Amino acid sequence: MTIERDARLRDVESWGGYFRFAIDAPSLGGGAKPGQFVMVKVSDGDSPLLRRPLGIHDAGPGGIELFFAVAGRGTEILAGKKPGDRLDIIGPLGRGFTVEAAPKGARALLVGGGRGIAPLAFLARTLAAAGAKPVILYGGRTAADIPLRGRLDKAGFEVLCSTDDGSFGFAGFVTALADREIGKDKPAFVYACGPDPMMKAMAAVTARHGVPAEFSLESIMGCGVGACWGCVHRIRTEAGDGWVKICEEGPVFPGERVIWP
Ligand code: FES
Repeated sequence: MTIERDARLRDVESWGGYFRFAIDAPSLGGGAKPGQFVMVKVSDGDSPLLRRPLGIHDAGPGGIELFFAVAGRGTEILAGKKPGDRLDIIGPLGRGFTVEAAPKGARALLVGGGRGIAPLAFLARTLAAAGAKPVILYGGRTAADIPLRGRLDKAGFEVLCSTDDGSFGFAGFVTALADREIGKDKPAFVYACGPDPMMKAMAAVTARHGVPAEFSLESIMGCGVGACWGCVHRIRTEAGDGWVKICEEGPVFPGERVIWP
């Protein structure tokens, strides 16, 4: 984990309320793994006091990319940043996806709902580099909620889209699209990230088809480093059911261990 107080925002791309930041920060990018997150200080003053947790959208030796949706005061302030601005970021944090779960040549489904697509581009690139065959299922309420589809297509990934209102791609929930795809050609592994109701439905789909899966959980986070107990979730362990800190033990958990609210 690094505290990078002088990360430089290099490039900003936006679509309505969705933003992609490219950030120069070699100390953060080099060691990042797909599924890990960072804590970003959004203002120079004390308000808002808490940093915002954001999943790493991509990473490399030069820095990281973040993708986020404006969902409150903190992300609204962040969305106002311009190329050249300095950012104070802690990371990479948490435990990411198990890339080895999809071996060479195996098909893996990556299911993202809305801003839950954030960590899946990095994961898809890493899986492809390791010889697996990632297929991204990208769903949103409307076509405006799946803004990265063109970018992911252009990057050469196989991408299937869904919208709840049928305005683009498969008409229906992304979990229904995943159900169809798993039924057609069972993948070796499923990775998912999105809102809790979507992930709960996705857990039911993977369990019904007998496909192993990992889920990246979202949570409000106070510290991001295990100090505040602000991010607990119920998880099954060998010792029984219990509360764990998502920022420390997760955010990625095996599907069979998550107890959905
Ligand atoms: Fe503080 Fe997890 S966010 S313990």
